[in-house]
Amino acid sequence: MSKVIVIIGAPGAGKGTQARLLSEKYGYPQISTGDILRAMSKADTPQGQKLREIMSAGKLVGDDILADLIFMRTSRDDCRDGYILDGFPRTLNQAHTLEELAERQGKAVLLVRVVVNEDVLFKRLTGRWTCTKCGEIYNIYFRPSKGEGVCDLDGEPLRQREDDKPESVTHRFEEYWATATMIDYYKQSGRLIEVDGDSPVNVVFEILCDVIDRQ
Ligand code: AP5
Repeated sequence: MSKVIVIIGAPGAGKGTQARLLSEKYGYPQISTGDILRAMSKADTPQGQKLREIMSAGKLVGDDILADLIFMRTSRDDCRDGYILDGFPRTLNQAHTLEELAERQGKAVLLVRVVVNEDVLFKRLTGRWTCTKCGEIYNIYFRPSKGEGVCDLDGEPLRQREDDKPESVTHRFEEYWATATMIDYYKQSGRLIEVDGDSPVNVVFEILCDVIDRQ
């Protein structure tokens, strides 16, 4: 049976990092709702403007927009054999949308939550700066660039994500803790697998692969 691999976790837990690696290994597309919404927010339209405001404040985008987005993206051909969700679901409504969708698509859902201490998460996010040209990621606490504010690889300027500023990160955490209802719902169903995300990227990746291969 084809699979939907769902990576749940707080902002900065490493959902995107791990989803990318899993996509390379298993050949399933990575569907990052954050990346899709960031692209949509660049449009010079009322919807783009509204998304920019919501996201830069660290708030959650409405369930109706997310449902449409997920239906459309997962109906593409590349999702036929399976896909990886990074950042969806985040609310109980979205969890129900996913259940209906997976049932209709005849896919088994594997739910994994990556758990990381909040102090580490705060530094991962507020310290993250990305090269505007090549996308290389630095962190002022853990992996600073050699020259301040410029990329080691191509000398281009580094940029901080609007929602990685401390006040937005605090809001993102608050929104995340509001997802506790969804997490409890999954825990009670006995289907949620929790993994420690506080280890190096390759170690977390090995644990995740092990979990996936055992299903
Ligand atoms: P989204 O883009 O999903 O952001 P997020 O979950 O808040 O946070 P990140 O993507 O930054 O965290 P991540 O867990 O993917 O970690 P990453 O791998 O990047 O969402 C952005 C916004 O979009 C939301 O605030 C909301 O407005 C909206 N949105 C999205 N989905 C939505 C939904 N379903 N419903 C409503 N609204 C939605 O890693 C973070 C950093 O840590 C990186 O620098 C990375 O290099 C580093 N790192 C990763 N793993 C490790 C490790 N093991 N050790 C050391 N460093 C690590």
